[in-house]
Amino acid sequence: MKITKCLFPAAGYGTRFLPVTKAMPKEMLPILTKPLIQYGVEEAVEAGMKTMAIITGRGKRAIEDHFDISYELETQIKGTSKEHLLSEIRALITQCTFTYTRQVEMKGLGDAILKGQALIGREPFGVVLADDLCINPDGDGVLKQMIALNEKYRCSVVAIMEVPEDQTYKYGVIEGKEMEDGVYRVTGMVEKPEPDEAPTNLAIIGRYILTPDIFDAIRQTKPGKNGEIQITDALLHLAEKGMVLAYKFKGTRFDCGSVEGYVEATNHLYNLEEEK
Ligand code: UTP
Repeated sequence: MKITKCLFPAAGYGTRFLPVTKAMPKEMLPILTKPLIQYGVEEAVEAGMKTMAIITGRGKRAIEDHFDISYELETQIKGTSKEHLLSEIRALITQCTFTYTRQVEMKGLGDAILKGQALIGREPFGVVLADDLCINPDGDGVLKQMIALNEKYRCSVVAIMEVPEDQTYKYGVIEGKEMEDGVYRVTGMVEKPEPDEAPTNLAIIGRYILTPDIFDAIRQTKPGKNGEIQITDALLHLAEKGMVLAYKFKGTRFDCGSVEGYVEATNHLYNLEEEK
């Protein structure tokens, strides 16, 4: 079954970016002239997905307005030298369907994904955390790479990267057996472990391909670390029953949920543009 839907959990408060995220969604922070979430949608489109299912919350309306036509603006700049500035976003709006539902209480990423069931149904789907910006200028985007693995093994896939050992407390960390170069069969997962509790330094980043049995697994998952429903706990359940893969993706990931990563991404993409 071809994967056509991509879920964007975007309900979080973005407290690390306060005060800017007080009235503005973190997902709308710009990297150059595009908001973070647009990069995620472009990556999903490149991977063949057409339905973008966005989990929002209070104060997130700007996301809906961004993926809609602004008639006044279009009329204003029609025929001027600025018209091309809207062409990329207009192409996304034309190609894709955007659906939305709200996560009423911030009960964790697992809960946010479960809220997406009404938009996804019973089919495999992609998940993008838009604050993780992933680029691979010389090859396929990360979601496209992961879909190829899902097509081969027909199971859920999480993207991983090696992180310095003193950074494991920021991530879900996997333990696994390497099946092919950079592809691990997951045997264990720990949410945000301290370095001495981390089984490896292979950290999960914000890209997933999930099979629909994840929804039942989340329902059976009790609140874990920080009292939140953790997607890693639900994935471990799937890994114990069947197979979950962890994939060391090709490309670069920027943690744009932190100020440092956000500045790094901005500088990197600016330099890439300058080189063109
Ligand atoms: P983060 O913990 O990085 O985002 O969650 P946050 O909570 O918005 O940011 P800080 O830590 O307060 O600065 C990762 C992703 O999961 C989503 C967030 O929107 C973000 O994209 N998320 C997290 C939800 O949608 N709902 C939740 O309950 C938790």
